[in-house]
Amino acid sequence: MAMKINDLVGAWAASPPILYYQLREKLDDPNASFDDLAAIVKTDPAMSARLLKIVNSAFYGFDEKVDTLTHALNIIGTEQLTDLALAAIVTSKFQGIPRDLINMETFWMHSIACGIAARGIAKRMSGVETEKMYLGGMLHDIGSLIIFKESPEDARKILLRCKESGENLFKVEKEILGYDHAEVGALLLTEWKLADRLAEMVKYHHQPANAGDYLKETCIIARADVLVYEMKIGNSGEPGVPELDPRVLEMTPLSDEEINGLKEEITAQVDDTVRMFF
Ligand SMILES: [Fe+2]
Ligand SMILES: [Fe+2]
Repeated sequence: MAMKINDLVGAWAASPPILYYQLREKLDDPNASFDDLAAIVKTDPAMSARLLKIVNSAFYGFDEKVDTLTHALNIIGTEQLTDLALAAIVTSKFQGIPRDLINMETFWMHSIACGIAARGIAKRMSGVETEKMYLGGMLHDIGSLIIFKESPEDARKILLRCKESGENLFKVEKEILGYDHAEVGALLLTEWKLADRLAEMVKYHHQPANAGDYLKETCIIARADVLVYEMKIGNSGEPGVPELDPRVLEMTPLSDEEINGLKEEITAQVDDTVRMFF
């Protein structure tokens, strides 16, 4: 019998992103300075180095070299650096997935490309906080990593069946496990007490029409997911390009010209960004 979703997520829920909480707490303190925030990141030297590498990557595309965290905070802002720290913490937590299940490099390639795509789509629309979209794209399939890690036998069965039948991953997961990777990811983010917006985008990325308060954001993630599958950048276990609900296209109206520009942006940024994250 499949593991219950709470048991599956349990151990991961018990290992929250502490450094991120510390940064958030400082962000809420009106007296906190850039130096205070930088001091928190510096308690983890490997994280400091990684964040600086990302800030200097094609993901941001700055001309000048950013060589201190205080400089980074000045240039990208406190909110963004904090979100970036969360992305970096999460990627470092998920290591050691059995190689035969998923190639982690292609998994993160898919996720990072989706983050870049989501940000790019949001930039071309109005009424969405562009920089908040990156994390949603980056973490949308995180539940799959938990399933691979905690239920490798079931995961193997699911991946094999998808490969043979061409069915969507989330549908087969639901049938075999009783839940899917979108629900698993959202549960983890909720347990970690991260923003509702983030959990909702993740939870409904395969059924965006079911989203509530963050329908627009969720549709952006769904569109980004399909776009990077069409572009064949990375892979997170889907046997083919996931189907796109026509309502998603209505919610994310982009011209062919905009799509082409977006594709160029993704291609130009993705390799360098993946390298800097790892
Ligand atoms: Fe997914
Ligand atoms: Fe995906």
